[in-house]
Amino acid sequence: MNQKYSIPYVNFGLQWKFEKKNLLPIFEKVFRKGQFVGGAEIDILEKKILKFTNSNYSVALNSGTDALTIGLHLLGIRPGDEVITVPNSFIASTAVIVHLGAKPIFVDVLDDQNINYKMIEEKITKKTKAIMPVHLTGRVCRMDKILNIANKYKIKVIEDAAQAIGSKFNKKFAGSFGKIGCFSTHPLKNLNASGDGGILLTNDKRIYKNAKMLSNHGLENRDTVKKFGYVSRMDNLQAAILNFRLNNLKEIIKKRRKNADLYFNNINNHKIKLPYENINEFNTYHTFVIQSEERDKLKNYLSKNGVETAIHYPKPIHLQPAAKKLGYKKNDFNITEAQSKKILSLPINQFLKKYEIIQISKLINRF
Ligand SMILES: Cc1ncc(COP(=O)(O)O)c(C=O)c1O
Repeated sequence: MNQKYSIPYVNFGLQWKFEKKNLLPIFEKVFRKGQFVGGAEIDILEKKILKFTNSNYSVALNSGTDALTIGLHLLGIRPGDEVITVPNSFIASTAVIVHLGAKPIFVDVLDDQNINYKMIEEKITKKTKAIMPVHLTGRVCRMDKILNIANKYKIKVIEDAAQAIGSKFNKKFAGSFGKIGCFSTHPLKNLNASGDGGILLTNDKRIYKNAKMLSNHGLENRDTVKKFGYVSRMDNLQAAILNFRLNNLKEIIKKRRKNADLYFNNINNHKIKLPYENINEFNTYHTFVIQSEERDKLKNYLSKNGVETAIHYPKPIHLQPAAKKLGYKKNDFNITEAQSKKILSLPINQFLKKYEIIQISKLINRF
């Protein structure tokens, strides 16, 4: 917990306080057995995730980033290929494409911060091998439209569902629409490990088997390496923590949705734009992002009043120094760039008290 703030953005101290009694025996069990790499907890987690997301196969990995890397690799993305994605994500979505030697082709976003599906088709070329929609903030992209385009051009879809475990569109789970779906279980995510972690989801047995193998040095068995692979396995200890926390994920999502409702009912400053949920959506509010023309002043004002906020993300990917050689420039993606100056993530975590959300809302109304 950041001592500077009476209402911190996240609250790991409280999480530990609530979970300590349950987690200590879980740690003890893993240490006593001495199974750290691979192990029973991994198998349990992979099965539980399938049940949670209504999918056929899952692979527990060391990060959401590696889930995307292995996923793209298994979709056959090679140097010179193009992958369509958005410039307003966490840097990892683009980095994984670049690392495979492929080119990220950016498409601007809609009002809801997700990919503008109407602009995808014009970006498709002979080199386009995949579309990677990012379900930002815990809200699923228009997967009906995206899948129609992908089917029309026979392009694979890999979902960056890092922020969207449990989110739904038309009652279908994020991560289960495309050929591959990737979750992150980073400490800041709704289902969080105590370190890095990620999960790859697929309905394709071949992809599942190869993802398992690639994540474990490409070992087919103890002594045979079929393909040069990665070391991307999730730790058994992290899987044990996630197995415990997955039991509460529905409750966590319920609490975050309730917090969102409290904001909807209490913020009435007309200069502030709130997120919204369409009827066919089920949003899990990994982040609760408002928009203000005076974002920096508002952030400062809330900070002075003890409320910690965050910005996801203040500098779009195409304007990052690392992206220079991709050849994009300022004003290439107007909506993304405009949003990056207005967006502000309010605290939404499941440990917040009702009076804290009302207090934040009042401050925003007074601003
Ligand atoms: C949209 C998005 N994509 C990818 C990632 C990468 O996940 P990880 O941090 O688990 O590698 C994250 C999370 O940080 C993310 O938010």
